Amino acid sequence: MAGFGNPTQAVYSTVRELVENSLDSCDDARTHPLIDIEIQNVTSDIITVKVSDNGTGVPPEQVPHAFGRVLYGSKYSQQQKRGTFGLGVTMAVLYGQITTDSPVIIHTRTQNYKGLLYRLLVDVENNLPLVESKEELQRTNVGTTVIVQLKGDLKRAQDRILEYLRLSTVSTPHAALTLKIDDEIHVNLGSWSKTLPEPIRPSKPHPRSVDMEVLRRLTSRHGGKNLDDFLCSSFQKIGPRTSARFLRFMNLNPNRIISELTRDEQTQFAHALRKYDGFERPDSKCLSPIGKSDFLIATTSVFNVRQAEYASRGVNEWQGNPYVIEAILAMGDDFPRSDIPTLYRFVNRVPLLYDSSDDVLTRVLKRVNWSRYSVSSSEPVALFIHLCSTKIPFKAAGKQSLASIPEIEHEAYQLFKELGRKLGKISARSKRSVRETKKMREFSKSFRQIARFSSALAGHDEVPSTDYLVKQLFEVEPDE
Ligand SMILES: Nc1ncnc2c1ncn2[C@@H]1O[C@H](COP(=O)(O)OP(=O)(O)O)[C@@H](O)[C@H]1O
Ligand SMILES: [Mg+2]
Repeated sequence: MAGFGNPTQAVYSTVRELVENSLDSCDDARTHPLIDIEIQNVTSDIITVKVSDNGTGVPPEQVPHAFGRVLYGSKYSQQQKRGTFGLGVTMAVLYGQITTDSPVIIHTRTQNYKGLLYRLLVDVENNLPLVESKEELQRTNVGTTVIVQLKGDLKRAQDRILEYLRLSTVSTPHAALTLKIDDEIHVNLGSWSKTLPEPIRPSKPHPRSVDMEVLRRLTSRHGGKNLDDFLCSSFQKIGPRTSARFLRFMNLNPNRIISELTRDEQTQFAHALRKYDGFERPDSKCLSPIGKSDFLIATTSVFNVRQAEYASRGVNEWQGNPYVIEAILAMGDDFPRSDIPTLYRFVNRVPLLYDSSDDVLTRVLKRVNWSRYSVSSSEPVALFIHLCSTKIPFKAAGKQSLASIPEIEHEAYQLFKELGRKLGKISARSKRSVRETKKMREFSKSFRQIARFSSALAGHDEVPSTDYLVKQLFEVEPDE
């Protein structure tokens, strides 16, 4: 029950899974997400979580499998997305079913159906959906509402949920989220940016990202093709010339049929695809970084920020997966005082709140010598980092911390140092300017005094102006 280990985490994970799916669906629909989250206490330890969105809706034939089957996902193409392996929402449904014996309720409307309401459970033994009821019920707009009842500790989860939603508007600044708890607490968040991100273009898998599972799936789809056709049609970055070169390198006849390779040959084939160095780098149109202007607008809208710097690195590649890292180093009184920046982690536009001490990014953060860049406990500083990729190297199925991938670690380290240098320069400049201003005031005061004394000594009634002297000395206008 990854991510559902205790009653507090269960509430948090349920909200997170439902909100992630809603945001993914709004990306598909190319709309500004409007997402309502309502949590109600039913008894002292049973709650309902209801999340509504204005996404694409779920086609009726998909509803039972999407919500009532573990490991069913519709997102198998290579592209950045929040959901990972079709595990999310069904885990929440299962947890609700196990702890309160109640079905999940799904009310959805697509372009083609005016509205359907489902109640369903998971047949755990067979990993199949059990539809308890299905009825037509009109829904005002296209989109989906999901209601899960579960046992959980709302009081303890409340702050985490609010934090999660606040940070979700940092990574998805064009989304508007509302949170209602027991009709009492009501928070509106987001809509910091009016621009929709560039559309994400799903791509075919890159040959270097192929493992046995991907190869098996592709083979079952294109089983009748010969090796040459299979390579050219299943992968990005392989055309006839690259395919011929690769097959020569493998010493394989291009006319052999993919499904007729022996098991050993298939293993070697997958291995060679990962190791062969003649493929171009993977496509990056399937990624959606937050971008400088949106990332800055969002952080400065959510936090009280005095100064912020943005930098990004990429597109780079890890094991055939393209990735971009972008980050903001911000100064402001909202952040805790420490001699290293407070870290806020985001992957594929999802904030990560748990297990930060296990995360490789925390380790990288600690490797940087922040005192060199004037980061100290007297000036609160935070670092917001976003990694986006077609695959995220999570440490565990709970999707809360990143494992060590040397390429990513190296890039993150360089990025942190670059931001440190930028902020260091600015804070040195601002300290210098504070010193200069003080000096200028003192000079200006002394000059006026000297002018007054000299005039009195010389018997003049009029005291000459000394401003021009200060101006010459500091090359600025003196203030009064
Ligand atoms: N709010 C929603 N709008 C549209 N489709 C949804 C929604 N929630 C779930 N789905 C569908 O259900 C599938 C399974 O969801 P989930 O188990 O969370 O897996 P994942 O998000 O990893 O694909 C999704 O791939 C999607 O097709
Ligand atoms: Mg999901």
